[in-house]
Amino acid sequence: MNPASSAASYKRLEGKVAIITGGASGIGASTVQLFNEHGAKVVIADIQDNLGQTLADKLGENVSYIHCDVSNEEDICNLIDTTVAKYGTLDIMYNNAGICDSAFGRILETTKSDLERVLNVNVVGAFLGAKHAARVMVPQRKGCILFTTSAATSIAGLSSHAYAASKCGVQGLVRNLTAELGQHGIRVNCVSPYAVVTGMPMFEKAHDPALMEMALSGIGNLQGQILKAEGVAKAALYLASDEANYVSGLNLLVDGGYSVVNPSMTKFVESLGQLKK
Ligand SMILES: NC(=O)c1ccc[n+]([C@@H]2O[C@H](COP(=O)([O-])OP(=O)(O)OC[C@H]3O[C@@H](n4cnc5c(N)ncnc54)[C@H](O)[C@@H]3O)[C@@H](O)[C@H]2O)c1
Repeated sequence: MNPASSAASYKRLEGKVAIITGGASGIGASTVQLFNEHGAKVVIADIQDNLGQTLADKLGENVSYIHCDVSNEEDICNLIDTTVAKYGTLDIMYNNAGICDSAFGRILETTKSDLERVLNVNVVGAFLGAKHAARVMVPQRKGCILFTTSAATSIAGLSSHAYAASKCGVQGLVRNLTAELGQHGIRVNCVSPYAVVTGMPMFEKAHDPALMEMALSGIGNLQGQILKAEGVAKAALYLASDEANYVSGLNLLVDGGYSVVNPSMTKFVESLGQLKK
């Protein structure tokens, strides 16, 4: 067989069972499709029932949908227990569901209820997803728990205060869980994207998503590339696969280097060039 075609058809999650929260749209929906293409049985957990069920129906018998509000512990218990009853195991728990209050926002304009709403989904939801996945994975002595965090875990000023606090909180949870669950053979990691044009409210005003993507790419660090939901899904696929079998506690930034580069010196050098002209 041609090595290129055998590599292309290699299924990296063959036989694995995965739950993806927030799997009805955006990054979650792309990951559902990619995990399914790679041989996983995937359970979509979301509150957008029509979108989630339609995606499951489109992808066929190895993908199903369960209504689950991640901030509700009963819903999370039902999600995990129904998945294990159906497939006998749980290999990958991807806590991806998340919301933001607004794109940006001053502290004096942010209400306590804005903060609580964001923390309730992003942090409490991630905590409950990890807790009930661990309930199944600890006795199995294996498993993989993933989260979608954000480049806001690595650089300031990218988002609202509530959102940044929530994602940094999840990153703390990832690190702490890595310590405890490593003792039970369970890997814990997160994926931290730069901006991806999805259903998030901050992109609602993007009448032309392609233009918005180009604008976001232009202010990013890595030029000539646009970050799409599939790019984040590929990072999650790597972390979920056996290729990452010794990777745990990692915050995998998918940000084209944005969070490690301070562009002020480059701009200064450019401005010197302008002065010489
Ligand atoms: N889009 C970006 O630029 C970006 C950047 C960094 C991180 N993220 C993170 O990526 C994740 C996915 O976001 P997205 O950009 O694909 O947005 P999205 O809005 O398209 O997807 C989020 C999904 O989460 C679901 N959801 C919301 N609240 C829920 C709840 N209580 N219970 C269950 N599901 C719920 C939504 O219905 C939706 O399907 C989020 O955690 C987000 O914070 C996004």
